[in-house]
Amino acid sequence: MTPSSAAPVHLRRARPGDLAGLCRLERLCFPGQEAFSRRQYRALLASPTCSIWVLRAGGELVGSAVLLRRRRGRARMSGRLYSLSVAPAWQGRGLARRLLRQVVVGCRRARIDRLRLEVRRENAAAIALYLDEGFVVEARLEHYYGRRPGLRMRLDMATVG
Ligand SMILES: CC(C)(COP(=O)(O)OP(=O)(O)OC[C@H]1O[C@@H](n2cnc3c(N)ncnc32)[C@H](O)[C@@H]1OP(=O)(O)O)[C@@H](O)C(=O)NCCC(=O)NCCS
Repeated sequence: MTPSSAAPVHLRRARPGDLAGLCRLERLCFPGQEAFSRRQYRALLASPTCSIWVLRAGGELVGSAVLLRRRRGRARMSGRLYSLSVAPAWQGRGLARRLLRQVVVGCRRARIDRLRLEVRRENAAAIALYLDEGFVVEARLEHYYGRRPGLRMRLDMATVG
């Protein structure tokens, strides 16, 4: 879909009917084997420990963020940003930042105190966004997605304003 400056972009929680749009977006944003399959997305949509937000514009799904929640000990919760994507034609407009901030709101509501993610070291755009939003590098991964190096990054909710 071609972006139109007149088309408003709406952010909401994903619904089961978003499955096809999520798969289409995934194929646009992630090459080959890195893309989640239809089966994986169906399971994520149904999972009680997963939250997915989508951006929609002009009837198309143009962005998404996937958060996994996990209990840590008796009282604490951890989050994992499992996926963040914006359709190529819609990139560079602040939409990923908007999604990421919504994820942080979702973390607060779920009493998550620590959000982690993994990203390819060569993904300069995503790393710049995460650093700008307060994430720190927790570990360097030698073999993230096959032989490619990656980073594990962490956001401590206590450090976010
Ligand atoms: C990474 C991605 C989500 C960014 O989406 P986006 O909507 O274009 O990002 P935004 O417009 O919100 O940009 C936010 C910040 O990210 C950084 N950024 C975005 N694109 C960048 C680029 N091409 N080069 C360097 N930094 C970039 C900047 O810090 C930017 O802030 P600024 O506009 O104030 O400079 C998008 O490129 C994408 O979907 N890529 C494919 C999937 C992917 O790699 N996801 C992340 C996997 S962990």
